[in-house]
Amino acid sequence: MNEPRLGQLAEIETAVWSELFAAVRDKGHAWRVGVLATTDGEAADARSVVLRDLDAAARTLLIYTDARSAKARQTERHPRGTLVLWSDALGWQLRLRVNLSLQTTGLAVSSRWAQLKMTPAAHDYLSPLPPGSTVEHPLPQRGSRVHFAVLEAEIVAIDWLELHAEGHRRAIFDARGRRWVAP
Ligand SMILES: Cc1cc2nc3c(=O)[nH]c(=O)nc-3n(C[C@H](O)[C@H](O)[C@H](O)COP(=O)(O)O)c2cc1C
Repeated sequence: MNEPRLGQLAEIETAVWSELFAAVRDKGHAWRVGVLATTDGEAADARSVVLRDLDAAARTLLIYTDARSAKARQTERHPRGTLVLWSDALGWQLRLRVNLSLQTTGLAVSSRWAQLKMTPAAHDYLSPLPPGSTVEHPLPQRGSRVHFAVLEAEIVAIDWLELHAEGHRRAIFDARGRRWVAP
């Protein structure tokens, strides 16, 4: 929080994207895990997710999930979500307005599953029961069907908030451009 503050909106936006890049590469980055909020049309829902990759040209973050999960179902009918990230080291919160789309087939999914399937994380996508099913025993069962899916989160707007002893600042980066807003 004691780093010199970036003064210009353009340099703040550039720094936000480079921190997002760092987050998908560095497991220790505070933005590696964020909270993804969605809705089922009636109620809000939210959960922690890991940011796995970033396609800067497409402005899209990738999240791995079980294709049968509640978040997957919710995004089919209600694709607009919000991803909230906080870094104490940066003093920065991001609220990313995202358009979500679930990919269950195609090269992006199969190549990522090929890398994952030999790792312990593969268990997460091999349960015979959908996430949230009532079970007799808490530890996961392993089935043979793969339910791995890639949730694409296209960033349509960035709401940046900096907490700082000399005064908090907030800015929006979206299709209308860059602008300061009251924090
Ligand atoms: C630190 C952490 C990281 C997580 N990362 C993911 C993830 O990347 N993908 C995922 O589907 N669930 C992840 N989870 C589990 C979700 O938070 C959630 O419990 C689960 O996906 C079911 O959510 P849903 O019923 O809303 O779909 C993570 C949980 C924690 C605590």
